[in-house]
Amino acid sequence: MNVPNMINHGNRGLQVEGVPLSDVAARFGTPCYVYSKAALTQAYREFSEAFAGRDTLICYSVKANSNLAILGLFAKLGAGFDIVSEGELARVIAAGGDPRKVVFSGVGKRADEMRAALAHNILCFNVESQPELMRLSRLAQEMGKRAAVSLRVNPDVDPKTHPYIATGLKQNKFGVAFEEALAIYRAARQLPGIHVVGIDCHIGSQITEIAPFRDALEKVLQLVDQLEQEGIALHHLDLGGGIGIRYRDEQPIKIQDYADTLRGLLGERRQQLIFEPGRSFVGNGGLLLTQVEYIKQGGDRRFAIMDAAMNDLIRPALYEAYHEIVAVNPPVHGESAQYDVVGPVCESGDFLGRDRALVIAPGDLVAVLSTGAYGSVMSSNYNTRPRAAEVMIDGSAMHLIRSRERIEDLYATEQLLP
Ligand code: LLP
Repeated sequence: MNVPNMINHGNRGLQVEGVPLSDVAARFGTPCYVYSKAALTQAYREFSEAFAGRDTLICYSVKANSNLAILGLFAKLGAGFDIVSEGELARVIAAGGDPRKVVFSGVGKRADEMRAALAHNILCFNVESQPELMRLSRLAQEMGKRAAVSLRVNPDVDPKTHPYIATGLKQNKFGVAFEEALAIYRAARQLPGIHVVGIDCHIGSQITEIAPFRDALEKVLQLVDQLEQEGIALHHLDLGGGIGIRYRDEQPIKIQDYADTLRGLLGERRQQLIFEPGRSFVGNGGLLLTQVEYIKQGGDRRFAIMDAAMNDLIRPALYEAYHEIVAVNPPVHGESAQYDVVGPVCESGDFLGRDRALVIAPGDLVAVLSTGAYGSVMSSNYNTRPRAAEVMIDGSAMHLIRSRERIEDLYATEQLLP
């Protein structure tokens, strides 16, 4: 078992920093997402220190976990943000983030979203197609502005990750084809509403090898040099996010090795580096706390039925993702058994883990680990289940950073027919 460093064993069972998880459950109920401020801070610092001495801007990828408290924490540490919607921009601003440190990614930016981002003078639009470029130029001109732009290029490298989260292959919808990039840059330079400032590339997520990052940067640098020869000097290179974490037995890339590899390839080039890390900042800094409702012996499997379900954490159902599941109680000499750990939702795909050895009884607390990234943000109200509370642990303090939804809120915007 590989318990990430955010949790430790106390004499009252598992705890996060100085707080037993049983205290969190007693105070805020379950299911509940629990984060460690120290773990999040450490992930940010490790990354920024690896690039010390270089002009670097870390734009935390809001989609991984967009809770205001988490955005506020990263903003205080100096981060900028990678957003993909007007909603994410609003969150960044509400959390005290600086819109002038925001990069706007995504293949389908709407006109109103572009206008909002222009009005806030964001740092850069990561443009993903020629039609998007034309729209942005027109809107910026109407507002009497020029939009700062990077072109997201698709370097066609295999990130060797789950097909749903690979984004830098030819067949993916993301970015512009590598071969077309030069022509689009030339066109962009002529557009009155556009100011070309950078280049961008993000090849996928949960990448655990360095080679795909190296291959992608090599291709990007070819283009950077070609552009320079044509008199298009770039101010920054945005290398995206994608660094994988340990869920089970993966051997993630060491941040220092990643930084050293990039530094080596960059050589004397002095452009600012922008990164868009998401998962590697928050993934192992969060867990989902849930309670055993029933133990049930099925035809040929034994089920632990929890109060958390696929609506709270969809990664197992959607990607067959593995999350470590551990009992919170202090070790007892009970009987270990194999369980399918499932939720109450009416779908056979509603599982959190399969065939797990656990010592548990009804009423016990269980932690589903490494769920800080793409956990709460992907939760839904399926089966009219309120979304879980979220709690940040800071030393011996617990802070409620999102209240559990109330049932009446779930249909407050709906109306009966006249
Ligand atoms: N930048 C862009 C343009 C992205 O599309 C993403 C993630 C990131 C940065 C952050 O990547 P990270 O550092 O987190 O790998 N829901 C999936 C992951 C989807 C990732 C989408 N894009 C999951 O639960 O595994």
